[in-house]
Amino acid sequence: MKIVIFYFSGTGNTWRIAQSLHDVFASQQIPVELHSIESLTQGEILKIIARNDIVGFGYPIYGSDIPLIMQEFLKQLPVPEHPIPIFVFCTQWMFSGDGTQVSQEFFPSPRYQVRWSEHFFTPNNVCVSVLRLPYTTDQRKIAAKFNHMRKRMDNLVKHISTGTSHRRGFGFFSKWIGLMQRAPFRKYFGAWRNDIGIDGERCSRCGLCARICPVGNIDRVTLVPQARCILCVRCYNFCPENAITYRDRLHDRSRGAPYRGPAGFRPEQMKDL
Ligand SMILES: Cc1cc2nc3c(=O)[nH]c(=O)nc-3n(C[C@H](O)[C@H](O)[C@H](O)COP(=O)(O)O)c2cc1C
Ligand code: SF4
Ligand code: SF4
Repeated sequence: MKIVIFYFSGTGNTWRIAQSLHDVFASQQIPVELHSIESLTQGEILKIIARNDIVGFGYPIYGSDIPLIMQEFLKQLPVPEHPIPIFVFCTQWMFSGDGTQVSQEFFPSPRYQVRWSEHFFTPNNVCVSVLRLPYTTDQRKIAAKFNHMRKRMDNLVKHISTGTSHRRGFGFFSKWIGLMQRAPFRKYFGAWRNDIGIDGERCSRCGLCARICPVGNIDRVTLVPQARCILCVRCYNFCPENAITYRDRLHDRSRGAPYRGPAGFRPEQMKDL
């Protein structure tokens, strides 16, 4: 049995869960490879899928939905000749309802068969001043939250390695909760894509935001944000000067630094920079 995990992670939580799943598989001598979808070409994706038996996909939840970059990645997957068993996992702060089930909208063929799925509760990464949601940058608390998910990780790997089905987020009630949040999120998403800005006075023009944006939404020369934002909050959270604005509001420095992920996460890694 050979396994590959493809993941997208804006601010490190999904990266951390994907790494841990990788380590659990490896500790059981199950061959496993791990790839950030930001660092792959179409040709590489084809080869990677061809050399593995089970394919996993991981992403953060945005309004009970899948990040646009992951939606597009799933849609352009090759149509396999035979059914491929897959597992899907999502990371979320509070809830998504059907955060894994919603992936089924995007696979290009029913031959991608979701046999396993899991939802992982992770720290909140939304620190924007317009919402003022609670968050922490205390690495002890962050590590504790991930340690708390250890049982779910072991359980998921156990089901995959023994071939027994396990699907969280696929019930009727989950679907209903997911829809309640996803419908308004999808309705307003287009308008929100234009809400990232840069404060000229705070910005040092270091260019980091443009380099790490997963979708190239910030022009590398002019540093002007376009309207293609996927709301991953990476630039907002990692700008060293807290110069990124959301709806014209700067990060409130009295709250400390924004959320910068679990220990060891560097956004540049996601793009092989
Ligand atoms: C735009 C946006 C929307 C979010 N919506 C939800 C949500 O609906 N439910 C939830 O529990 N967490 C939500 N979150 C929190 C993230 O899903 C959570 O922190 C996730 O683990 C971040 O993963 P990452 O660090 O890999 O990007 C949202 C975050 C963002 C940026
Ligand atoms: S990361 Fe921050 S300081 Fe650097 S160019 Fe972007 S907005 Fe300016
Ligand atoms: S502009 Fe910022 S929030 Fe939007 S996709 Fe790029 S890094 Fe993410």
